[in-house]
Amino acid sequence: MILTLTEGQIRLRRMSVVDLPEVEALDQACFTDPWPAGAFAHELQSEGPNLCLVAEDSRISDGQKIVAAAVFWFILDELHLGTISVLSGYRKQKIGLALLIEGLLLGQQMGAQSSLLEVRAGNSEALNLYQRLGYQVVGRRPGYYQDNQEDALLLTLPQIEVAKLKMIRYMLPNSIKSDFF
Ligand SMILES: CC(C)(COP(=O)(O)OP(=O)(O)OC[C@H]1O[C@@H](n2cnc3c(N)ncnc32)[C@H](O)[C@@H]1OP(=O)(O)O)[C@@H](O)C(=O)NCCC(=O)NCCS
Repeated sequence: MILTLTEGQIRLRRMSVVDLPEVEALDQACFTDPWPAGAFAHELQSEGPNLCLVAEDSRISDGQKIVAAAVFWFILDELHLGTISVLSGYRKQKIGLALLIEGLLLGQQMGAQSSLLEVRAGNSEALNLYQRLGYQVVGRRPGYYQDNQEDALLLTLPQIEVAKLKMIRYMLPNSIKSDFF
C-alpha cells in the first residue's frame, strides 16, 4: 500500500547523531547486507568530507520518523554514493530521487564535478533511478556481493549538471520539502 502524503510532510535534512538508531533500523529493513553497527556513526564523526542526509516524516511524533537516508563521499572531485534507501511504505513517491538530487547539488557546491556509484546488477528500481538522472553503466564487477555473488554495476554521472537537476527538482511533489536551496 502506498501512503498518501500531504504537503510538506517529508522533510529532507542533514542526518544527526540522534537519528542514528532510526537510520540503522532503516538500513536493516532495506538491505540484505546492511552496514555494520557503528558505520553511520563513523560517517557522522568522520573528518573526511562527506554528506549524510535523511528524509523525515514530520507527521510521525513517536516511532520511525526517518523514512530515507543517503550517504555520499568525496574522492577528489568525484561524489561517491555510499548508500541510499527509502522505507518500503514510502517508495515510489520520489523521495529517493529528491534525496539523490539534493546530494548531487550539495556535492556540486562543495566542489564535486562528477559522481560514481555501485549497484547490484539485478536492482532494477535503483538502476532506473540512477539512469533517470543521467548515470551511465561503465563497468561490471563479477560476483562482487558476498551474500549472493551478484555482480556489481559501476555507474558514473560524468558531469553534475545543476540546471538539469534543478529542473527535475522543480517537478518534485509538494509533499517533499528540503532544508537546502
Ligand atoms: C531504489 C530506491 C532508493 C528508490 O527509492 P524511491 O523513493 O522509491 O524512488 P523514487 O520514487 O524517487 O523513483 C524515482 C525513479 O526511480 C525509478 N524507480 C523507483 N522505484 C521503481 C520501481 N519499483 N520500479 C521501477 N522503477 C523504479 C523510476 O525511474 C522512478 O521514476 P518514476 O517514478 O517517474 O517512474 C528504493 O527502491 C529503495 O530504497 N530500495 C532498497 C534499497 C536499495 O536498493 N538502494 C539502492 C542501493 S544501490
